[in-house]
Amino acid sequence: MYRTHNCGQLRITDAGSEVTLSGWVQTIRDKGFMMWIDLRDRYGVTQLIFTEENTGADLFEAARKLGREFVIQVSGKVIERSSKNDKIPTGDIEIEVQALQVLNAAKTPPFTIEDNTDGGDDLRMRYRYLDLRRANVQQNIIFRSQVAIETRKYLAEQGFIEVETPVLIKSTPEGARDFVVPSRMNPGEFYALPQSPQTFKQILMVSGFDKYFQIVKCFRDEDLRADRQPEFTQIDCEMSFVTQEEVLQTFEGLTRYLFQATKGITLPEFPRMNYDEAMQRYGSDKPDIRFGMTFTELNDLAKGHGFSVFDEAELVVGFCAEGQAEHYSNKDIKELTEWVKRPQIGAKGLVYIKLEADGSIKSSVGKFYSDEALQQWAAHFGAKAGDLLLILSGEAEKTRKQLGELRLEMGRRMGLMQANDFKPLWVVDFPLLEWDETAERFFAMHHPFTSPKKHDIARMLDGDFETMKSLRADAYDLVINGVEIGGGSIRIHDRALQEKNFKLLGFTQEQAESQFGFLLGAFEFGAPPHGGIAFGFDRLCAVMSGQKSIRDFIAFPKNNQGRDMMIDAPSPIAGEQMDELYLQSTWTPGS
Ligand code: AMO
Repeated sequence: MYRTHNCGQLRITDAGSEVTLSGWVQTIRDKGFMMWIDLRDRYGVTQLIFTEENTGADLFEAARKLGREFVIQVSGKVIERSSKNDKIPTGDIEIEVQALQVLNAAKTPPFTIEDNTDGGDDLRMRYRYLDLRRANVQQNIIFRSQVAIETRKYLAEQGFIEVETPVLIKSTPEGARDFVVPSRMNPGEFYALPQSPQTFKQILMVSGFDKYFQIVKCFRDEDLRADRQPEFTQIDCEMSFVTQEEVLQTFEGLTRYLFQATKGITLPEFPRMNYDEAMQRYGSDKPDIRFGMTFTELNDLAKGHGFSVFDEAELVVGFCAEGQAEHYSNKDIKELTEWVKRPQIGAKGLVYIKLEADGSIKSSVGKFYSDEALQQWAAHFGAKAGDLLLILSGEAEKTRKQLGELRLEMGRRMGLMQANDFKPLWVVDFPLLEWDETAERFFAMHHPFTSPKKHDIARMLDGDFETMKSLRADAYDLVINGVEIGGGSIRIHDRALQEKNFKLLGFTQEQAESQFGFLLGAFEFGAPPHGGIAFGFDRLCAVMSGQKSIRDFIAFPKNNQGRDMMIDAPSPIAGEQMDELYLQSTWTPGS
């Protein structure tokens, strides 16, 4: 038997018992006549004590040859520690070692296997198996497993059926590029890896499965960020005979259950906000509602006073940073102005109004507006002495987005984004279509299978360009703390309407038929009304843990160049393999 207990299990009540533990050597403290080793496994750390007297001279010498990350087995007696460690659950005891066996030696690891490691990103990814030994990383992966298990429990309880859909499919345009796989048996032809199982889950509804779910890998060849991986996981769901309201209720239920079951947290209410309001008040379709600082529009007050920047702007808009006047010297404002002018934000400048504690006003536009006028602005913001007003102007949509970024930055600086404060929100009533200036065509805001709102169907069928822009969809996103956790919609289930939508999206009839003929065909054989949603599972785990990077919740993630550093992928393939797949080969025999 390798072990009687694990390394996180023993307590003071076990004192006196004989035990056997196995694990990894975490730290060694050698005092010459006495030696301590922290032994680690996934359950925790237990301190071992070796003394020449109790352990015996030979064993003591053997123990001194141990190094970090050796895998060992020890037997001995649980004793009470003289100096206790209240930071770990096993901190009251230690094991007086009487037998030691080295199960496997280890080279010195390239970085410390501690919560705060000295290893850089690339090194840790290359030695991911060592990185995954670190307790905090391991906890994330264990947490992910719990969330997956609880998801299955909840959805099974609600009558959902888990169905696997294929990984080698045909491309479905959902906004990102496809990863493709050449087919050896069909020269010159390619499979695509699914960006999501969207069309398959709809087909399952046509087949009558009624409530489907799958915890499923999705693949998107897009630029990577902290919250984006080329392969990621969705909790993908679809339901038949449901309204939007029922989908929202079901998945609010899932979210509540997951927070409660894995973290013991009761979530507050899930307010609803329509897309237009989110953009207008927060400059984002995924507002972080842990804090206010909503936008106030100033066109009426700001225009027509000779300040050309505002006069020429489509929109003048700002927010009030409460109590911040005293924290922003001229230098700080200058720094903040540089911040909004960075290319990632792209504002041309920043206007501020400081409502000083003594009632006076300081502003970068003082030349153009009297103090009385600025007091009027302040009243419009609902601001009081001590507050700082930050204002941007320009083209409406862009300016709102820029101000949205500034709002988040100020929220961060003001400590308003507490990691353990969870504020869910449904954003609803998304536009159906989005006009792309560069491509000069409409794109589906969610995806091409999303249904317009019932009352918009008639307008969709014979509307003009402006009407198309104003169409609203039964599409919704779940947002928690400013992160888009999931998105879904009620789907089109009627062939004619789906064809019309493809047409609006610039598909010719032939293109629609060749790419989605199977779905259009299925719609002719009794497709029920249906709708669904997919949660980004990696994002959900990260947000539930109050963290930003989804990489820490994926056992084997890719780096920002889309590489797996451990297995060194992607990699070239042999010339023979290229030939076999009918890909252009540079291979010559013998090379
Ligand atoms: P959507 O494209 O909105 O919808 O994706 C659903 C959720 O998946 C997560 N997500 C990602 N997570 C990590 N890395 C990525 N690259 C990535 N891309 C998306 C997000 C997102 O909200 N088929 C539809 C769903 C439906 O309509 O039912 C779909 O895939 O959290």
